[in-house]
Amino acid sequence: MNQGPATTILVLVGSLRRGSINRQIAQAAIDQAPNPVRMRLFDGLGELPLYNEDVDTGDVVEPVAAFRAAAAEADALLVVTPEYNGSIPGGLKNAIDWLSRPYGRGPMSGKPAAVIGASLSRYGGVWAHDEARKSLGIAGLRIVESIRLSVPTKTLDGRHPAEDADLVRTLCGIVEDLAAEVSA
Ligand code: FNR
Repeated sequence: MNQGPATTILVLVGSLRRGSINRQIAQAAIDQAPNPVRMRLFDGLGELPLYNEDVDTGDVVEPVAAFRAAAAEADALLVVTPEYNGSIPGGLKNAIDWLSRPYGRGPMSGKPAAVIGASLSRYGGVWAHDEARKSLGIAGLRIVESIRLSVPTKTLDGRHPAEDADLVRTLCGIVEDLAAEVSA
């Protein structure tokens, strides 16, 4: 059976730390990707220089070029992030700034985007998730407002996210819903 061309979802994780719960959630989502959805985790957010219009001319430095190329190849974006001081972690905001240019012609302009994640507070980082949706929308992506998941880390009770069957089921649905938005 011809299943048509694969859909590629770029995944960004807002936390850079090795043991990140958000990274584990992202990996659990990646592991749930139904055929023919491909998910690609871009691991280099920590290597992107701080956005500077003076250097965003012509040939950009390699980490930015690689990031923009991965973004251009993808059909959709999934952001998995914690909340830092009531907002988006700086590295993630910086990545969104790089994605937003050239103005109106960024590599993910018009592509669907969803934001989820986990944080320590009982609201699960919802401020960061709302802020990320706001920034990504202004950066030109099409926000899938119906996809929302803000997990208070305490609800995991020390388990790896992949061991939480309800969470894994939810992640599976999120990946399917986001992939369906590509052709919507
Ligand atoms: C946090 N944390 C946090 N949590 C929260 O719910 N609201 C917040 O405003 C903040 N602020 C904050 C700032 C900084 C600098 C750090 C390092 C942490 C706690 C955060 O949610 C917790 O450490 C998460 O586990 C981080 O996600 P990862 O790294 O496990 O993916």
